[in-house]
Amino acid sequence: MTNNNIYFIANWKMYGDLKSINSIENVINLSKKIKYKKAKIIYCPPYTLLVQFVKKTNKTKINIGAQNCHTHQYYGAFTGSINAKMIKNTGTKFVIIGHSENRINGDTNKIINQKIRSSLKEKLKVIFCIGESLKEKKNKKTNLVLNQQIKNGLKNIKKLNKIIFAYEPVWSIGTGIIPKFNDLENQVKEIKIFIKKTYKVKNPIVLYGGSVNPKNISSLKEITSINGFLIGGASQNSKKFIDIIKKTIN
Ligand code: PGA
Repeated sequence: MTNNNIYFIANWKMYGDLKSINSIENVINLSKKIKYKKAKIIYCPPYTLLVQFVKKTNKTKINIGAQNCHTHQYYGAFTGSINAKMIKNTGTKFVIIGHSENRINGDTNKIINQKIRSSLKEKLKVIFCIGESLKEKKNKKTNLVLNQQIKNGLKNIKKLNKIIFAYEPVWSIGTGIIPKFNDLENQVKEIKIFIKKTYKVKNPIVLYGGSVNPKNISSLKEITSINGFLIGGASQNSKKFIDIIKKTIN
């Protein structure tokens, strides 16, 4: 883990109700301690809770993100959809795009590119997820897949300073299985090299996501190339989330 800011992004997926917002109070208190200054905490609740989360974290260092958005930048007849403009209007600053659970449901690299572009136009920061499936990994296609996801997802996008990358191998998400230490270290390095070479970005931010929990965090945090974590299941339990933050920073 580097000495720079460390990201802890809580992806609540399709969980959470009004009552569950109170559970983040302990995390807010932790974020106020000087010791945890470099922890950049971002909560990504479902759309229904964005406004309440923004209110709850007002005047704290914690930021809020949405988990997805529609491709269309402007208002329109898209029943059931939420666009980047609406997300921005709630006071939310970040948005997750390209999560594998949405790729599986039809988000192609082209759609992801449109979503990223409309988010950037609304001045949202993008948490851009990439990751290979188990089949692709077994066929030794990981680099090819990741590079294509990055290149096509970022087509015609010049400014990368508003983009945080999250490497989430699909086979790690919600399975309890994490990549081998050396494999993950090398993969994140490869991703960084590719981004630096292709986009001339000096220090790309690359997070790891997939079954991060209080038990495996002690070894994951030793990987110096990783700038933080995108955490699903374990982030919905504030005790576990705090444990992850404490073990990483201590
Ligand atoms: P997980 O989810 O931590 O539950 O594996 C991570 C994610 O989907 O972002």
